[in-house]
Amino acid sequence: MAGDGAKANIMIGIIGGSGFSDPSALGVEDAKDVEYDTPFGKPSSPLLTGTLCGVPVAVLARHGRRHTILPSAVNYRANVYALRRHGCTHVLVSTACGSLREEYRPGQLVLLDQFIDRTTKRPLTFFDGSCDEFVGICHLPMADPFCGETRGVLGEAAKELGITMHEKGTIVTIEGSRFSTRAESHMFRSWGCDVINMTTVPEVTLAKEGGLCHVRYPDIPAVPQVTLAKEAGLCYAAVAMCTDYDCWREGEAGVGVGDVMATFRANVSSVVRLFKEAVTRVAARDWAETLQKNKETVTSNVMLPS
Ligand code: ADE
Repeated sequence: MAGDGAKANIMIGIIGGSGFSDPSALGVEDAKDVEYDTPFGKPSSPLLTGTLCGVPVAVLARHGRRHTILPSAVNYRANVYALRRHGCTHVLVSTACGSLREEYRPGQLVLLDQFIDRTTKRPLTFFDGSCDEFVGICHLPMADPFCGETRGVLGEAAKELGITMHEKGTIVTIEGSRFSTRAESHMFRSWGCDVINMTTVPEVTLAKEGGLCHVRYPDIPAVPQVTLAKEAGLCYAAVAMCTDYDCWREGEAGVGVGDVMATFRANVSSVVRLFKEAVTRVAARDWAETLQKNKETVTSNVMLPS
């Protein structure tokens, strides 16, 4: 890792959201399903493991491969845990979103950089005492929730491919499963939100936290003394596709699920191309320092029992 001169090995987790539940769309080579059962339960789908453009990947369908899991019922902890356990260092995700800005048009992509959390019923942390691999109280800094370096790579990849992707976007994640009222939609716009969805929180925050599983606590005998050699926090970046204008536009009917699925499916090929290009670019870099920094962010923000 950082400091020892070695380039970090990387593995890229990919989470496909609404409209991207079929992992075969990516054309993973040497594909093999790997099933995980985690201390938090089962992930939404098996991990489709293999290589993409020669880079090791593990692909997960957030809502299940047949799209049967509601946003509130997604087991975000199991999903992130399984990817981390499998050895992922990076996670690239897609999400369908409603646009709250005229200029973020349906079919276009947004590289998320901030979120506002309006969820109400989801476990938000690994550190809630339910799993003895996560000991202590964690107050994770969240000023910059998404990995800046990974976002940079995605931005470069989009430019190279000529894909329109807005460089920034604040997403408001609502609990769902209903869509918003017009009053809520106007309120989110007045808060400065650019896009809206139902899944970015807590997935991004857990990805930031999840790096700590299997850290060694030599002074606490109750903790399993397992150490992964290349322990690190996950580099997580999200590409949101605008599928609709929610319901803030005067004189227009609000969003329906048909709009979301139809728009995403019609444009899914741009996400596939983008992820393939990004995977190659991620693999070309050295991530040792970034991964080390991620790990230190978590370890320095956990208060261990005294
Ligand atoms: N996902 C896609 N469009 C959405 C919207 N308008 N609100 C919440 N989640 C969404």
